[in-house]
Amino acid sequence: MIEKVNCAKKAIELVEDGMIIGLGSGTTVRVFVEMLAERVREGMDVAVVPSSIDSHMLAVEHGIRVVSLLEHPEPDVCVDGADQVDRDFNLIKGGGGALTREKIVASASKKFYVIVDESKMVDRLSMPVPVEVLEFAYGFVRKRLADLGYVLKLREGKGKLRPVISDNGNLIADVDAGVIESPEEVEGALRIPGIVENGIFLAEMVDGVVVGRKDGAEVLR
Ligand code: A5P
Repeated sequence: MIEKVNCAKKAIELVEDGMIIGLGSGTTVRVFVEMLAERVREGMDVAVVPSSIDSHMLAVEHGIRVVSLLEHPEPDVCVDGADQVDRDFNLIKGGGGALTREKIVASASKKFYVIVDESKMVDRLSMPVPVEVLEFAYGFVRKRLADLGYVLKLREGKGKLRPVISDNGNLIADVDAGVIESPEEVEGALRIPGIVENGIFLAEMVDGVVVGRKDGAEVLR
């Protein structure tokens, strides 16, 4: 937890008065939101574009102004967590199922900063890649992925209920791609009609990775 606090403290330094902030999702973002709310109470004027229903509610509960991409199609900065960050700064995201809106908000923003504790830093991406899939296309997507040698597994929710449904009303599943030597290649392979979005965020999107450690945090990139 101290790692996440240190990480969020560092990330708050990247926020300036008047900014529109793309807001990611997840537990690290939660800590960031608490600190942002403190700044807002002190008089800082910012607004957030949330990337999930959860983050939207969180911002409202903390008294942070919420706007959308409709009025602000280009937020100044996006701050979001990640499930894994490889040595080249490619990411896997979507552990919480919010990957599509997260990728949209991160892509829309002028800068994209990833906030992680050091346990997320890996040499190569290796966890199953989350995907959001249209229910109509699920059988086809599973077959196409199997032909490519990948296994698609529906995400199990709390209490092992399947399926997990995204904020957009689609299925969340995970693709086991083993240890990923080429994130570009796997990301490309996951562009199948019916996969709305995949959880590989290529390094070219990333402006900085804020890594929280027990004794502080540093910005890499
Ligand atoms: C949400 O779907 C995810 O992409 C999160 O951003 C990611 O899983 C990081 O979450 P934590 O900060 O909770 O690890």
